[in-house]
Amino acid sequence: MSNDKLRKAKEKAAEAALEHIFTGQIIGLGSGSTVAIFVEKLGEKVGREQMKIRVIPSSYQALFLAYEYGLPVLQPSDVENVDVTIDGADEIDKNLFLLKGGGAALTREKIIAYKSEKYIVIADYTKLVRYLGEKHPIPIEVLPFGWKWTLKYLEKYGKPKIRVTNSGKVGPIITDNGNLIIDLYLYESIKDPRRLEREIKSIPGVVEVGIFTRKANVAYIGYEDIIRKIEPK
Ligand code: 5RP
Repeated sequence: MSNDKLRKAKEKAAEAALEHIFTGQIIGLGSGSTVAIFVEKLGEKVGREQMKIRVIPSSYQALFLAYEYGLPVLQPSDVENVDVTIDGADEIDKNLFLLKGGGAALTREKIIAYKSEKYIVIADYTKLVRYLGEKHPIPIEVLPFGWKWTLKYLEKYGKPKIRVTNSGKVGPIITDNGNLIIDLYLYESIKDPRRLEREIKSIPGVVEVGIFTRKANVAYIGYEDIIRKIEPK
């Protein structure tokens, strides 16, 4: 698929999510290129319709986008609940379980997603998979303190690799929370995502894992010309 076609697919998904936006809402913002398109469209809609919304960004990327489009920003501690969160994904299975963390923003994304009344996922169609981990390793945010021990525990499940940057900085990726990202290349496919999410979370030094089993309420999957809406069974 060409970059142009992929961009159109992402735009379709981002546009579709706008139908969940109403004045007065507190909106969680995920991260990534599809969410970036959504924030641009959200900014336009808010201006056009004179809406009053506030956003909780999940990363510096989302925060800077919110500033760019003039969206008022809140901290999680400012509010009890989030009305709706719009987020991207690296993989989406048939249960609407997700694999996330391609942009290293998984921890804040999960904090916001799991607290949201409605969790809406927007993605191009390349993200649909038969099972989580089909196309990507599992992203895991870990504390720098004792990272080698954490890495050793993870060897029970697969080959762990510290994620390094390929541009803009040398050395390991440092997350918005000051931590490392380990990409775990599993020995075998995931049979029970809930169990693996729990098990990896219980390892000392693991801050968060990119397996999201808080089912999305809706996933909008964009293709070049059409949009597909998937809801949980
Ligand atoms: C960031 C994420 C993103 O949501 C995920 O990587 C999807 O990004 P894109 O919309 O660019 O494909 O999990 O941590």
